[in-house]
Parts: sequence; structure tokens; C-alpha cells
Amino acid sequence: MSYNLLKGKRGIIFGALNDMSIAWKVAERAVEEGAIITLTNTPMAMRLGETDALAQKLNTIVIPADATKVEDLENVFSKSVEYLGGKIDFVLHSIGMSPNVRKKRPYDDLDYNFLDTTLNVSAISFHKMIQVAKKMDAINEWGSIVALSYVAAQRTLYGYNDMADAKALLESIARSFGYIYGRERNVRINTISQSPTITTAGSGVKGMDSLMDFSERMAPLGNASALECADYCITLFSDLTKKVTMQNLFHDGGFSSMGMSLRAMNQYSKGLECDCDGGEKICYG
Ligand SMILES: NC(=O)c1ccc[n+]([C@@H]2O[C@H](COP(=O)([O-])OP(=O)(O)OC[C@H]3O[C@@H](n4cnc5c(N)ncnc54)[C@H](O)[C@@H]3O)[C@@H](O)[C@H]2O)c1
Repeated sequence: MSYNLLKGKRGIIFGALNDMSIAWKVAERAVEEGAIITLTNTPMAMRLGETDALAQKLNTIVIPADATKVEDLENVFSKSVEYLGGKIDFVLHSIGMSPNVRKKRPYDDLDYNFLDTTLNVSAISFHKMIQVAKKMDAINEWGSIVALSYVAAQRTLYGYNDMADAKALLESIARSFGYIYGRERNVRINTISQSPTITTAGSGVKGMDSLMDFSERMAPLGNASALECADYCITLFSDLTKKVTMQNLFHDGGFSSMGMSLRAMNQYSKGLECDCDGGEKICYG
């Protein structure tokens, strides 16, 4: 259902890989709400994923870019302004990747070159994107920038590894740049902290199925889907949230405020054995 919340607005969506991607749903919902948009992803994602098909469906273009490269980002903003016929009103950063997670390097045996990549791709790209947009004056007054985060920025969750550090940095960048961009151009910057969601990136997290089951049982409203996340993004891009900035907004069915629920407790009670390494000192829990 459309409310025309983004009628007349121009947006850029980073990170739609396939129809499971959160960015995919955001792109579809944004167009449904009356926006015109461009899409962007890495050249490799464009080869392996389905971004082109989405562009065809939404009658737009894909601009290839590695979000860690400033010159690529400059190209995304200049081409988008040209193609869409004016300055941008909203931007979605939906980008995350950790080589340590991919290569199963545990947090106490990180490869530091991999860590550099994790932070660069998943967090510093957000700073680069905003800095490029501001220097080019590519975003309209009262524009809105959103990135997607996860509760592991605040609380330790088994298996999330160095992505937790990347998300903490991402959220900090939203605050630090939100102050500057808000003060100077009335542009707002927020992060949405989304429930675990089955996507290509999400599936790389160790124990994802159990994590999803746990948060589903803990959250009074259950896990939020990718489509529900897209709906929330739309509200943040719309003029209904003009004074919301520098926030990390939980979109997780209430999970982040819970300690223990009856449903999780009942499940937990079914198996109370400890995962110790043969009864020795270290207990991997
Ligand atoms: N899936 C979840 O459980 C979950 C939960 C909370 C937050 N998030 C966050 O949502 C965002 C989107 O992830 P998703 O779950 O939709 O998975 P996804 O795999 O569909 O999207 C990740 C995207 O990042 C892009 N990307 C990777 N490296 C890039 C680079 N150098 N430059 C530009 N793009 C690059 C990929 O091509 C892909 O399109 C990520 O920030 C992720 O951490 C996901």
C-alpha cells in the first residue's frame, strides 16, 4: 500500500544485491511511495547479483561503485544528480562485509588486514559517502541519510565477531556527522538497528539460525522482516521525521529492551548442558 510519502523525492540506494537484500526492499518501497532513485553496488556484485534486474523493474540505472573509493562515490553522486534531474533527498547505506567472518577467523585470532577491510567497507564507507555528498553539496536541505546497523554494536552476541566493532563505528559516524550536516544544511543522519534477517550477508554470521530463533522468542513482536525494515526506512526518508537525527533506532520487535522472555526460557530449559571443552577451565558459551 502506498501513502505517497516520498512523492517528488530523489534517492540513492546502496547495497541491493538480490531480492533478499534489505536494500532491494527499500528500493521497491521507495519507488512505490513516489520517489525516483538510482541504485549502486560493486562491479563484482553487479556480475554475481541481480541489481540490473531490479534497475529494469524500477526503470532506473545502476552506477557501479566500490563504496570504499572516494572517486567512485563522487561518480555515484554526480551521475545520480544528473540522471534524477536535481539534488538528492535521501540515501541508504546498506553495506556490510567482514573477511574475518567469511574466513571464520575468531575474534581472538583476527587477521588485521581483514579487520581493516571490515571497518573500511562496513563503516568508514559511510563517512566517505557523507563527506563526498557534503563537499559536492549533492543533498537537499532536510535530506535524510540512513545506514543499517545491528544490536551487536551495544551488546556482545556470539559469532558476530569484528562486525560488532564496525557497527559501533558506523553508529558513531551517524552521530558525529549528524551534528555537522544538521547544523550546516539541516540534513539528518540516523542508523536503524535491524533484527537478524535472512540475506546473503546475514547468512555469513555464525549460528545465524539459532540467533534468529532466539531473538524471535525474546522479542515481544518477533523479528522484523526486511520488508518491515524497508517501511521504517521510508518513514525516515519522509518529511514526517524531519527532526529525528543522530539516533540509532532499534527496529527489532523489542528484542533490545528484553532480558529474558518466557518463550526463550522454556526453550532454554530443554537443554541445560554446558558447551565446555571436556570439563576443563574454558567454557565456550
Ligand atoms: N541481515 C541481517 O541479519 C542484518 C541485521 C542488521 C543489519 N544488517 C545490515 O544490513 C545491511 C545490508 O545487508 P543485507 O543483510 O541486506 O545483506 P546483503 O548481502 O544483501 O547486502 C550487503 C551489500 O553490501 C554490498 N557491499 C559489500 N562490499 C561493498 C563495497 N565495498 N562497496 C559497496 N557495496 C558493498 C554487497 O554487494 C551487498 O549488496 C548491512 O549493513 C548489514 O550489516 C543486516
